[in-house]
Amino acid sequence: MYCRDRTTCPPEPWRRWIVLSNDFCREQACLFPTQTPEHRVGATRWVAQGDSTNCPYGNCRFKERLVRRSSSSRDMVGVNKERRRKKKMEDSEILKKIQELKKAKNAVIIAHNYQLPVIQDLADFTGDSLGLSRKAAETKEDIIVFCGVKFMAETAKVLSPSKKVLLPKINAGCELADCITADEVDEYRKKYPDAAVVGYVNTTAEVKTKCDYCVTSANAVDIVRKIDKKQVVFLPDRNLGSWVKKNLPDKEIILHGGRCYVHHKFKKEDVVNAKKSHPEAKILAHPECFPEVLELADSVASTSQMIPYVRDSKAKVFIIGTEEAMIHRLKKERPDAQFYSLGGAQTCYSMKMTRLPDVLNSLEKEETEVTLPQEVIEKAIIPIQRMVEL
Ligand code: 13P
Ligand code: SF4
Repeated sequence: MYCRDRTTCPPEPWRRWIVLSNDFCREQACLFPTQTPEHRVGATRWVAQGDSTNCPYGNCRFKERLVRRSSSSRDMVGVNKERRRKKKMEDSEILKKIQELKKAKNAVIIAHNYQLPVIQDLADFTGDSLGLSRKAAETKEDIIVFCGVKFMAETAKVLSPSKKVLLPKINAGCELADCITADEVDEYRKKYPDAAVVGYVNTTAEVKTKCDYCVTSANAVDIVRKIDKKQVVFLPDRNLGSWVKKNLPDKEIILHGGRCYVHHKFKKEDVVNAKKSHPEAKILAHPECFPEVLELADSVASTSQMIPYVRDSKAKVFIIGTEEAMIHRLKKERPDAQFYSLGGAQTCYSMKMTRLPDVLNSLEKEETEVTLPQEVIEKAIIPIQRMVEL
């Protein structure tokens, strides 16, 4: 019972685990239970906690960055400055080595829009999950270093089976993608034999093998509109599914209960307050946000759709309802504009796991390779192809 704010808690199975693992999450130190300011990435106050090997997800920061007790003491200012100077030097060396290895190994580096700015800047391509996988398939390089989360690297593998796909941090998962299993999809099929099963791209490759169509947040409404069945099982994100339902009232959409803990941080009041404090601003929200947030936004847009919206808009201020790193990407389009995160910056911790040394390590050791059984590759591509053809 350690997650004080249950609404920010990821869905099953994490919630179940959090409740059972009292010892482990005593200090709410795990990445998932909560995001009190002192436990956010980059915070300077860390607290001791129990045995991190208990973390079933393998995502706990304490595995990598052991306890750093610390303080906001002024004595630390000089030390931090020196550390920053050293780090900068190291970063430039790492960047140089990455470029050399990339060339030597004929590799391409791609990064999702939610990656750390340094990773976005290093990448050959940045974009949304499916767009990147498609881009990777078009490139001639033999190795794809996918800076993102696991389902994205799996999608890249499905689209480029002959290439080596590397995920620098193999435990960078997406709790939305992981909240539904292939067996659950089978159960939906039994319960709704006449329905088309539509899976968001944020699903594992195994789940995709069970879907009729794959969709992205950018095309979900259009694809479902074109499906010639009235009844549609939409999984796993309930907010994206509700958005589809709202836009296609003639369809009968059956929703799975999944949701993204990052996008659930944006609340209706945040939009109301943003409109008051920046009446001139345009508010953009990702369709994984709550329906009441989407209702009030000026634009409901996937990460790839936010880019042309901002580029072509006459507005000078934008309030962004998605993961905070998207602002780094958008600033490149409109350096003249001001950007704010809706209600305060929200972080996807899995997306922030990949650091420069991880990319270097991944290229050096060619790890961690994402592999999939041939059967999974052959079946998982079908809903993706159907989406493209529809
Ligand atoms: P996009 O497909 O819009 O990039 O979104 C991916 C994602 O993980 C959203 O949380
Ligand atoms: Fe998954 Fe949400 Fe992170 Fe996107 S932001 S990768 S949906 S956890």
